[in-house]
Amino acid sequence: MKGILLAGGSGTRMRPLSTIINKQLLPVYNKPMIYYPLANLMLAGIREILVITSPEDSELFQRLFSDGSRLGISIRHAVQESPRGIAEALIIGADFAEGQRVALALGDNVFYGAGFAGCIERACERKEGATVFACAVEDPGRYGIVELNAGGDAVALAEKPSVPASDLAVTGLYFYDRQAVEIARTLEPSARGELEITDVNQAYLDRGQLHVETLPADTSWLDTGTHESLLRASREIQAFEKSTGALVGSIEEAAFRMGFIDRARRRELAGELKDSDYGRLLLELTGQG
Ligand code: DAU
Repeated sequence: MKGILLAGGSGTRMRPLSTIINKQLLPVYNKPMIYYPLANLMLAGIREILVITSPEDSELFQRLFSDGSRLGISIRHAVQESPRGIAEALIIGADFAEGQRVALALGDNVFYGAGFAGCIERACERKEGATVFACAVEDPGRYGIVELNAGGDAVALAEKPSVPASDLAVTGLYFYDRQAVEIARTLEPSARGELEITDVNQAYLDRGQLHVETLPADTSWLDTGTHESLLRASREIQAFEKSTGALVGSIEEAAFRMGFIDRARRRELAGELKDSDYGRLLLELTGQG
């Protein structure tokens, strides 16, 4: 399976924080926001990842990740000329993903909790159709929304509905079979001028191939879309890491856990970061396990 990590967008809702700095490079506690979705793709066992961002920010992501070889993975970089919608990532990544299953991760989505690894595993095992994760939210009108029947099957989807039929948001981590690129190519821009990821999911729903997993109670999905929610995300990750002694969204840990790098390499990477609390915790964890 290939992975696409989408980190473009205009970031207007985060200004002035994002006036100069790409939103996905802003900190969520002790690491850049983009680390969290990258770690999730890696925990899905994905070693070939395409990072898509805006032309002006691409160099920053190349400096941050280079070609991924330090983490035992392959990272390629591509640009989206302007924010024409999330589904355009599948078209930009068409040559990269064509004919293969693909996981698409939004660069501003943070998940954490004991049950999340199991969710990713189940999504990877499913070879046909699409798998998305749903989570109850207080402000459903801000998200893609899914309506489920009594059996837990999806019956309807809507992008930012003014009258939401449910409070279940579709989160920004999507697992697709090989039909996704071909579906994205058939899309027309929505009323707001974007190629909507909800329309890709709708195509799977129409084919009876959309699987929706509601996130378990021990898994949290954090919105990082406003100043308030970004601060809350930092606080929650800080509290979780302090209470568990684990690192959430650590790409070095994910690389080691998945066997992409060995213990010596993990120690080396941690050593480079040893002046920070993050690096020291990584070193400690390297000693332990
Ligand atoms: O976070 C989950 C939600 O993400 C879903 O529930 C919605 O269905 C989905 O449309 C999306 O809604 P948002 O309004 O939150 O999308 P936003 O414009 O904030 O973009 C999400 C991420 O994708 C962000 O990291 C920027 C990136 N992006 C977005 C667009 C539209 C791009 O890189 N290029 C784009 O053209």
